[in-house]
Amino acid sequence: MATVFVSGSLPSPAEAALSVLAAEHEVVRDEGGVGSARFAACVDRLEALVVPLTDRIDGAVFSRTPRLRVVANIAVGVDNVDLDAARARGVVVTNTPDVLTEATADVAFGLLLAASRRLAEGDRLVRAGGWSGFSLTFMLGVPVHGASLGIVGLGRIGKAVARRARGFGMHASYTQRTRLPESLERALGVTWVPELPGLLAWADAVTLHCPLTEQTRHLIGPRELAGMRPGAILVNTARGPLVDEAALAVALRDGPLAAAGLDVFEDEPRVHPELLALPNVVLSPHLGSAEVPTRAAMAELALENVRRVLAGEPPLTRVV
Ligand code: GLV
Repeated sequence: MATVFVSGSLPSPAEAALSVLAAEHEVVRDEGGVGSARFAACVDRLEALVVPLTDRIDGAVFSRTPRLRVVANIAVGVDNVDLDAARARGVVVTNTPDVLTEATADVAFGLLLAASRRLAEGDRLVRAGGWSGFSLTFMLGVPVHGASLGIVGLGRIGKAVARRARGFGMHASYTQRTRLPESLERALGVTWVPELPGLLAWADAVTLHCPLTEQTRHLIGPRELAGMRPGAILVNTARGPLVDEAALAVALRDGPLAAAGLDVFEDEPRVHPELLALPNVVLSPHLGSAEVPTRAAMAELALENVRRVLAGEPPLTRVV
């Protein structure tokens, strides 16, 4: 019997999977995560950790858990886990790809539509009693249908966004280090742009789908924003630190951007005060994967990975 620490709350359909694990292992739970007293009380015997992305699993956590065998992150991004430290200690790290792809692509598209067509701004205006009636010149946004869409990172979620873009008659291009096979590009209706600046200068809207690493931190900074088209839209459903929020606020206030849609932030749950003050940015509280079947599937996958590692089997979705 191993000790498994489960941080945070799980969506209710995943409780059944947790009961299965609890039949064989000691399960310790605390909403307070790795900062909680319950976690501190079991570090010496802990063999598995199930955590959401808000738990930082750094070198200090690894040092406190000498028997740790697996960290099951309930997220596809693993920037909250020190992967080098895990490698050095031989700890397996798993994530939850695939199960959240379509849900996250939906939110990216939702933010693209809301930001381009000023839907959140319009909602606020109506509620505040500020709508004086239809006018041909009132609250005009920028088109989504027929526009050019730049996808930064054509992984699983980027591809799902490309499929949606096709349905909207958009022209999609992507950038990433490795070009996809041409047959796949044709099937997705995308063209490759080798460098980010070229994509930014071309696209009416840009959506970010790359992981957060030391190389991609502030991928979108003052220079990149200045290189975007006048009236462009930026969407970020990946990780907040990909974008320099202070620079984004300037680009939204003074141009060239028309609007932005953000689901992720540099220092969640804090949002840059200058962004909060701007009407032309739609802000959602990290909801990319937030629907019941997706969140349940993420938690179930994480628990299955733990079950497998503890049983000496290969996990389904190993990162390290
Ligand atoms: C959510 O942000 C995830 O990485 O799964």
